[in-house]
Amino acid sequence: MTMRKLLAVSLALVMVLSLAACGSGQTKNEEPAAEETLAEEQAEEPASDEASDTGKVLVLYFSADNTKEVDAVSSATPMVGDVSSTQWIAEVIHEEIGGDIEGIIPSVDYPLGYDECADYAKQETDTDARPAFEALSVDPESYDVIYIGYPMWWYTIPMVLETFFDTYDLSGKTIVPFNTHAGSRDGGTYSVIQEREPGATVLEGIAISGSSAGSDDTRQQITDWLSGLGLK
Ligand SMILES: Cc1cc2nc3c(=O)[nH]c(=O)nc-3n(C[C@H](O)[C@H](O)[C@H](O)COP(=O)(O)O)c2cc1C
Repeated sequence: MTMRKLLAVSLALVMVLSLAACGSGQTKNEEPAAEETLAEEQAEEPASDEASDTGKVLVLYFSADNTKEVDAVSSATPMVGDVSSTQWIAEVIHEEIGGDIEGIIPSVDYPLGYDECADYAKQETDTDARPAFEALSVDPESYDVIYIGYPMWWYTIPMVLETFFDTYDLSGKTIVPFNTHAGSRDGGTYSVIQEREPGATVLEGIAISGSSAGSDDTRQQITDWLSGLGLK
């Protein structure tokens, strides 16, 4: 073999050896690296916790103070600052849970005086009326969990809520009632809501005396109730 041939053979041998080394080096270095990256990515992803994933949340509420006339203050409403007792609870829930919040505004304002409002509402209840309400800016049927707040009116839900339940089919949703009162507590209204929305799951609500809205104790009571529902 000439010197030139010897050199060519040696060079080819060196190239084959170095390519093999390079190839095996790539396999060793890249594959575990890729596995590590995937494992790291998986470790970084928040664990999917179905139980705490409550879906899209809406807090809806009605009170005598929900009027089209923005500055109107109803004496039928125990006020906490410039919001009604039911609105105050709705806002506490919203602060704790998040989601959207919306008031149900009747198309015809309720009388602002307590006695006048009481008479007007009694007539609605006695006649099983379905008072209209203003279009909502949200579609309740697009939510998973709907908190619904109201004051006790004549031992039951205000009739405008009957209109609401007639309007929307909340089958498959979770409904969480909350209400204010002056002694009747929930008055069996959570069962009424379940009857109106038989396809929904109605959870155990919370009944708060209107006059105790606004206090730290009541806020704590609401927070504890929310934690107990397992939705927080
Ligand atoms: C028309 C009307 C009817 C009411 N009926 C009842 C009732 O049957 N039982 C009760 O405990 N409280 C009753 N209340 C008291 C309210 O439920 C209570 O004051 C509530 O806190 C009002 O909520 P708001 O601040 O959101 O308006 C009635 C109040 C009004 C104005």
